[in-house]
Amino acid sequence: MDRLSISGGYPLHGEVVVSGAKNAALPILCASLLTADTLVLEQVPKLKDVDTTLRLLAELGVKVTRGAGESVTLCADQVDRVQAPYDLVKTMRASILVLGPLLARFGQAQVSLPGGCAIGQRPVDQHIQGMQALGGEISIEHGYVVAKAKRLKGAVIRTDMVTVTGTENLMMAAVLAQGVTVLENAAREPEVVDLAELLIKMGAKITGHGTDRIVIEGVERLHGAEHSVMPDRIEAGSFLCAVAATGGHIRLCAAAPDTMGATLSKLEMAGLQISIDRDSIEAKMDQRPKAVDIRTHEYPGFATDMQAQFMALNTVASGTAVVIETIFENRFMHVQELIRLGADIEVDGHTAIVRGVEHLSGATVMATDLRASASLVIAGLKAQGQTIIERIYHLDRGYSQMEVKLGQLGARIERLSSRDTA
Ligand code: UD1
Repeated sequence: MDRLSISGGYPLHGEVVVSGAKNAALPILCASLLTADTLVLEQVPKLKDVDTTLRLLAELGVKVTRGAGESVTLCADQVDRVQAPYDLVKTMRASILVLGPLLARFGQAQVSLPGGCAIGQRPVDQHIQGMQALGGEISIEHGYVVAKAKRLKGAVIRTDMVTVTGTENLMMAAVLAQGVTVLENAAREPEVVDLAELLIKMGAKITGHGTDRIVIEGVERLHGAEHSVMPDRIEAGSFLCAVAATGGHIRLCAAAPDTMGATLSKLEMAGLQISIDRDSIEAKMDQRPKAVDIRTHEYPGFATDMQAQFMALNTVASGTAVVIETIFENRFMHVQELIRLGADIEVDGHTAIVRGVEHLSGATVMATDLRASASLVIAGLKAQGQTIIERIYHLDRGYSQMEVKLGQLGARIERLSSRDTA
């Protein structure tokens, strides 16, 4: 298993290009199942979850071609399987995103239930109830969601909570349904908007995306399209937390600052000097960060996917910060590892009290989930001495070559492949 070795305590300087957003790319790739025509996608980030999605789509019969750079071409004109097997779904819960497209276009789908995951239970009951409301007959058999329908029919669906992939799955099912679907309490995340924009290019009739009420008028068929995946606001935010912790001056290119309001304002409160352009962010830090309270919330609130990285920043801030996680029940697993690096954090249920310390000191730590890994990288960049981060396959799931990009910013970071360390 690969590990990262970081020599910490050095500021970051330079320029880095933000990749396409993982959480937009995954549903967009799955949307290829909705048409027999070709989808040409640009800015598809090179990361593990994208590989897993492409492998899943290829298993279903989708022709997948990776072009130059970060382009991917998909053609689902000969889909011959409708089953997403357990061994793929268990490594990536977002595999559930094939349920809506398969059911809508082929009238059947079998998708393994994802099971639990490190950051919480994460059930898919809302996906299932929504598909049932659209007329899908759903049963759970041998650990699989088995779905059938003649043609889905539009319905008014109000999910019990705001769910990002739930909204995306139901939107993809509804675009080919007969009649009008209204998704109430819909997720407003920019990644949902990016998917809607792709579907509209494919001929779907969608309005209200970006609000909590999305209206979809079903059409008979969709056609091919070209689309460039939006920039990754979480990757960009992670680099900004890193420079806020280490000090320095960096510029992020190909970013989407207009999708990052909550993160940028909290970083400014921490003392980061930020100037934004349409698609770039310049950030300078020349002081010790100030502690900033965080409460995670659905978009446009502060993203749960930025909580761990911001906590790493708070560990070295002056003052005490209260961090409240409201979206997932078990998303503080990075805390124990940050404490190993010298952080002073106390957890009580969904609340963490972070008392800033002057110095962290390098140690061997273990990545436990995707964003927790990024928080350890940030802490490692700040800590004095050497930090080794184990199990970075979590990091590779969602960050494209993070150590290479940080290297471009002057970080002393190195991947130790399992061969080197055997
Ligand atoms: C997506 C993101 C993930 C992010 C999360 C919250 C992708 C691929 N992943 O995950 O990075 O952390 O949004 O912003 O886009 N819930 C249920 N039943 C359901 C669905 C959700 O109880 O059927 C609960 C979840 O357990 C969680 C909350 O609703 O507590 C929000 O989850 P959701 O928005 O669905 O997260 P994901 O879409 O899985």
